Amino acid sequence: LPEHGTGFHGIAQIEGFCGETRKRVRLGRPEIIEQEDRIILHANDRVTGIGVSSEFRFDAKDTLVVSTRVSHEGHTSVHLQRMASALLPTPDWASEVLTHAGAWSREGHPARRRWTTGRIEQAGRSGRPGFDGGPTLTMCEAGTGEDAGRALTAHLAWSGPFRLAVEKATDGSGQLLAERLFAAGECQLNNGDSIELPECLIAISGHGLNGVSAAFHEAFRARSRPIHRRVQFNTWEARYFEIDETRCIALAREAAALGAERFVLDDGWFMGRRDDTTSLGDWAVDTERFPNGLQPLVDAVHAEEMDFGLWVEPEMVSPDSDLFRAHPDWVLGHPDRDLATGRNQLVLDLALPAVQDHLHGEIASLLDTYPIAYLKWDCNRDLYPATRYGVARPGDQTEGLYTLLDRLLAAHPDVEIESCASGGGRIDAGIGRFVNRFWTSDATDAIERVRIQRAASLVVPPEMLGTHVGPSPNPITRRQIPMAFRVLTAMFGHFGIEADPGNLSEADRAILARGINIYRSHRVWMTGGRWYRISQAGADPDVQMVTAGNGAQALLRILRTSASSRPHAPHIRLVGLQPDARYRLTELAIEGEPELWPLGEYTGAGLMSHGLALDPGSAVSGRLIHLERAD
Ligand code: DGJ
Repeated sequence: LPEHGTGFHGIAQIEGFCGETRKRVRLGRPEIIEQEDRIILHANDRVTGIGVSSEFRFDAKDTLVVSTRVSHEGHTSVHLQRMASALLPTPDWASEVLTHAGAWSREGHPARRRWTTGRIEQAGRSGRPGFDGGPTLTMCEAGTGEDAGRALTAHLAWSGPFRLAVEKATDGSGQLLAERLFAAGECQLNNGDSIELPECLIAISGHGLNGVSAAFHEAFRARSRPIHRRVQFNTWEARYFEIDETRCIALAREAAALGAERFVLDDGWFMGRRDDTTSLGDWAVDTERFPNGLQPLVDAVHAEEMDFGLWVEPEMVSPDSDLFRAHPDWVLGHPDRDLATGRNQLVLDLALPAVQDHLHGEIASLLDTYPIAYLKWDCNRDLYPATRYGVARPGDQTEGLYTLLDRLLAAHPDVEIESCASGGGRIDAGIGRFVNRFWTSDATDAIERVRIQRAASLVVPPEMLGTHVGPSPNPITRRQIPMAFRVLTAMFGHFGIEADPGNLSEADRAILARGINIYRSHRVWMTGGRWYRISQAGADPDVQMVTAGNGAQALLRILRTSASSRPHAPHIRLVGLQPDARYRLTELAIEGEPELWPLGEYTGAGLMSHGLALDPGSAVSGRLIHLERAD
């Protein structure tokens, strides 16, 4: 628990002071308590009364979990300016740092930098983890790739303001920091108070980034809610705000004919909502569009043997809404001054008990009225100003969200929840405890998705990432992408459809239906599988693989996003197979006849050392190959 004033000038574990005496918190040397499965560092400051306990233990398979708690037993209040969840020395081999850059619909651009001196930081101050990689930072040795080299990834399980940083001192020693950020005046501890800081998850690999992913995937699976991966149809990119009972019932029938198993009614179903300027907060069904409530649609969905999901954005309110007119003082900001809108909406103050009760009542009543199997929980703006009457609230907002989710799940334990924030703006292990999946990006352009999904899979298991087949041309990029490529890109995540089936050609509908059929036949064993990114980030083709049953079967996917510079078939060396076993390889054709192409039998050793020579294919095409033990 390093601290300043001791000859140490790096990042301190804690910075705070007593409000009355202005004396700094000084922890001194911690006591080290070794228990069977954990080590605890414990220190007390007798002057201010602050005590810190930092606990290190292994979770799931290989993830180190650091949990830190601060308590206060002094008589005068202490202001904490900052406090690290984890602060650790870095390994000497770490000479590069990998984070991800991005913005709305552009998530997942790898940003890899040399780290020889000074500080590299990945911070989020917008109140949501953000589109630029969220609370994750990786250190590597030079040359570390997906499959080789050393890497250490740290992730903070927290959906609010955060900072991860590495800093190298002039003597060459380095520190890794992970912390929840406190705003000025946000954290004041009085006698008897304590605060549990967000957990920091850390995985180290000697086998490249795939090694840290394997550990993180297990950690997410162990902490999150069960993953069922029913094929979803979502109305958003199919119809945007152009929805009503008749259209939705027609969409439900068409989606079911393609193989969809869940119908999700996105934005636009509630009172007066015709575009994004009004009505958030008024969670009553729009009677013009759905004159009989949602029940006729739900019945039609059930008649097609699908379950029903609903979009909500509970944390927000439109200035033009009955809720805001009734409670203008329920929002963040200063109700007497100009309120800063984002996407024409304001943020409700989730720290207010009245807001908590109201939102719980509204969402619970929807869940009680309709058999809702799934909530798409959206959050479409940053949380600023994170103050109420000028007093900082950022962490309260995140805690308030967790409390609300917790309460709802206690009464409705079976409802599945998706974390969405204008796409992939809230993907982290903090909210991960309450949700079954994440919406990966608003970009459904399959070429963009190759990069975005690969980046998200660094810590999140692909089965928790919403991967939908969108329309062509894509509404965001205007790119036209063949249906087979869109289907293959969606295949390794949680498959969905986000396009109006009525606008698809018959040929495209057939390709989509076949793709869904393939997905449905393999999803059970793929869930919980071991994922490998075989090609390096940015390489073309993108090659990924999932294995299960200790290499008993596997799916190999090759996606070529641009034209090949070499017509020669590259040898793709596979991983995760049993060297002594023989494998039967079958190409699962997404289009054309026959549907299954036998590719012969090979030994695991041959496939892993010599590799598989495959025609690289033309631009924007892909291949899917199933491997099964033949002996
Ligand atoms: C942002 C989400 O990411 C979209 O999928 C959609 O649900 C819209 N919000 C609706 O407003």
